[in-house]
Amino acid sequence: MTKDVWRIGVAGLGTVGGGLLKFLAERPSFAPAGGKVVVTGVSARSKSRPRDFDISQFAWFDDPVALATSPDIDIFVELVGGSDGPAKAAVEAALKHGKPVVTANKALIAEHGAELAALAEAQNTPLLFEAAVMGGTPAVKMLREAMVGDDVSAVAGILNGTCNYILTEMEAGSRPFAEVLAEAQRLGYAEADPTMDVGGFDAAHKISILAALAFGCAPNYAAAEVEGIDQIELLDIKLAGDLGYRIRLVAQATRSDEGVSVRVHPTLAPVGHPLAETRGALNALFIEGKRIGRIFIQGPGAGSGPTAAAVAADIADVMTAAVRPVFQAPAAKLKPFDKIAADHHVGKAYLRLLVKDQPGVIAAVSETLAEVGVSIDSFLQKPVENAGGVPIVLTTHATPEAAILEAARRIGALPAVLAPPKMLRIARV
Ligand code: HSE
Repeated sequence: MTKDVWRIGVAGLGTVGGGLLKFLAERPSFAPAGGKVVVTGVSARSKSRPRDFDISQFAWFDDPVALATSPDIDIFVELVGGSDGPAKAAVEAALKHGKPVVTANKALIAEHGAELAALAEAQNTPLLFEAAVMGGTPAVKMLREAMVGDDVSAVAGILNGTCNYILTEMEAGSRPFAEVLAEAQRLGYAEADPTMDVGGFDAAHKISILAALAFGCAPNYAAAEVEGIDQIELLDIKLAGDLGYRIRLVAQATRSDEGVSVRVHPTLAPVGHPLAETRGALNALFIEGKRIGRIFIQGPGAGSGPTAAAVAADIADVMTAAVRPVFQAPAAKLKPFDKIAADHHVGKAYLRLLVKDQPGVIAAVSETLAEVGVSIDSFLQKPVENAGGVPIVLTTHATPEAAILEAARRIGALPAVLAPPKMLRIARV
């Protein structure tokens, strides 16, 4: 479909929506298929809210569904956010009217991607979401387009900039989680309600989408295993550092004979490893393909300019008719990925204990590990600093995760162990 003018409706005028309007104002030459892009209508919660961009030349819509179905737009851009509510209603309405949809909404795609893909396919219209994962860093197109000639076996990385900023600052300033989170909120990096970010849910939305693209399945956020960084203590960051590791929130999706596993956990990465060296609010991703091998990308995962550039790249795909299946296969053939049981995961782990300072404690801990077949890789006991117990930290060789969890449970029940052990996974290098 070639056109002289592509009329865009933009719902949501926050950081990304504002960035898109500024981008289009700054780049009147943005015409990937020859035709010009013109914003014709906008919608947001408040028309009068102060903004640092002008919306007076655009038709205003109180209702994003009315904008999505307006005969005066050719492409609907959804930047409202949220897995349900107005964002979902507007995207569904646009697709039912055969309008191409570009969205940055990771929650919507992770939770309703399969049904929206079916709608898009029924109308033969694109549903694109590059900006939903890693902001301006093109992870979606990498998997949707560049990797289709290979068999992807794993994707793993840092998909939440807020968490990475907090972990980096905790380490750099020897500051506790709560203090750095409060600072991140003051600086506007973290939301007033930071649960989605620090609870790991934002990263879980993103990795659910990447899993669907990597393995040609329906996103199934409900099956993702999610652990955030809100229980990470400064002590763990310091002890991990003493052992040569940094803690990162790693989201990973792997395919095996058992199926597709999708998990988000605080994870130790060795200093020098690209994930350990990804600092501040940056995002990073490894993709492993059978033929291509390992690819690593790193870049901004949020921010007005980068995310708007990703939205513009999707608009360019609509204009150039670069249409592909939403998740690599016809919607009717997509199966959701399932939850994989812990005994199917094999990996190294970090266990941090607080024990009484008395003879025989270490022997009891190592006997317990031996009982369940867990072998110690390294062991560190810190000098007693106060009467609250002795911190001991150990790392294990690669072991089925179920054995490590059982060992942690049994160690936690030993009389000389003062608190349940803290278990963190160690990244596959
Ligand atoms: N809140 C996200 C982050 C950015 O901190 O990475 C938007 O996806």
